[in-house]
Amino acid sequence: MADILFDPLVGRNLTIKNRILRSNISGRFDNYDGSGTQTRINWETKFARGGVGAIISSFVPVTMRGRIVPNYATIDRDDRVPFWRELGKRVHEHDCKFILQLSHGGRQRDIPGIEFAKGLSSTDRADPLHGFECERMTTAQIHETVDAFAQGARRAREAGLDGVELHSANGYLITQFLSSAINDRTDEYGGSLENRARFLLEIVRAIRAEVGADFHLQAKISATEMANAMVPGEPRGNTIQDSVPVCQWLEEAGVDAIHVSGGAFFPHPRNPAGELPIDELVKTYDSLLASGTKTFRNYIFFRGRLTSEFFQKRWRKEAGKVIEGVNLADAAAIKKAVGIPVICTGGFQTASFIRELLTRGDCDAVSIARSLVANPDLVQQFAAGKDRPDRPCTYCNRCLVNAPENPLGCYDEIRMKKYGGRIHVGLPSVAVSVTLT
Ligand SMILES: Cc1cc2nc3c(=O)[nH]c(=O)nc-3n(C[C@H](O)[C@H](O)[C@H](O)COP(=O)(O)O)c2cc1C
Ligand code: SF4
Repeated sequence: MADILFDPLVGRNLTIKNRILRSNISGRFDNYDGSGTQTRINWETKFARGGVGAIISSFVPVTMRGRIVPNYATIDRDDRVPFWRELGKRVHEHDCKFILQLSHGGRQRDIPGIEFAKGLSSTDRADPLHGFECERMTTAQIHETVDAFAQGARRAREAGLDGVELHSANGYLITQFLSSAINDRTDEYGGSLENRARFLLEIVRAIRAEVGADFHLQAKISATEMANAMVPGEPRGNTIQDSVPVCQWLEEAGVDAIHVSGGAFFPHPRNPAGELPIDELVKTYDSLLASGTKTFRNYIFFRGRLTSEFFQKRWRKEAGKVIEGVNLADAAAIKKAVGIPVICTGGFQTASFIRELLTRGDCDAVSIARSLVANPDLVQQFAAGKDRPDRPCTYCNRCLVNAPENPLGCYDEIRMKKYGGRIHVGLPSVAVSVTLT
């Protein structure tokens, strides 16, 4: 019997061989100046070899000011094209498509202030968690940024890539316009939902004018924001009722698919859903902690035993109980309202569960990040009849909190221990390897 997991996903401008896409994820693999390296090519090729139908790149800045951290390859200039062409070519060798995520961080950054003291944003209000300062964009800066996205799309097409995704999710610049919790403008880019969506829709139209109607363009959105999840007193932000019309406008403006995410900031208790490993976070959080205006408060929060436990408890409460399919209800609501494919991200790693939701029509495909980091051959395992990998991702989020400083990979030693491999016991100043019998 045909397996719905391996049915091609046929879109207006792109056909993908199966229903599993690698969601946006990577580490600081590239050069400080934004040029790409072989490491990124190897990283992406690993997942293509593992059988996913398409890879959606991680955050690719369209301008240098849009960077959230150094060492991510950018697409801000024409001389970046050869690198992306080579990467696309290598991924294509495995019958896998490559979609580049066009991104701008705005006020939300991982290591702020190195090149530009302040990020650009819809607002001049610093972000509530870290206190990263920002500058309210002028109309001229908005137009320049719209054009930067369009030029990024043109370069992706020139590089022979299969499409682009707008990073209009997870709290970055486009979310900062869309979000009722963040956008406090009084001009035509703020206020009503129509006005808050104007920046995003202008980007879509500018991309279509630049690349034509026949190049795949998708948008990742945070359907439910829960902007008040970690900082009490903040507004709740957009709900699915706001996001459904935005997705309909995106479809009308020429977007080919919607990628459903959640959260008005990143990371967020529901994105990536799972644990907040404070023990590990305090080791890698220093530069973030020291870069905003909330350093003292956050020092107390994360370094104090009681306060960090309180923070972790709040994270767990806001995270809720669902990990696999955390955004599924939102994806299903959007799917009912649009005619283009809907891709859902969030916790997927069980073949039968994915088959069930695809059969029900909740969405058209799923995207997976962490479970593929844990098992890059997950799709091949599904094809061979496995329902869930023997050593599944535990959603511990250790990969996430290591990402700003350390190489990206799976950091959960418990996964290895259970299966008799080598376990690494980390102490503050020594690390000992022992072999389990
Ligand atoms: C280390 C790390 C880096 C990520 N980077 C990005 C990114 O660059 N762009 C993006 O849209 N999402 C990013 N995400 C979110 C993932 O793409 C994905 O949507 C989220 O982790 C939920 O899926 P999962 O449960 O399969 O991991 C990242 C997640 C992790 C853990
Ligand atoms: S560190 Fe490994 S097990 Fe933990 S969330 Fe990341 S990939 Fe999954």
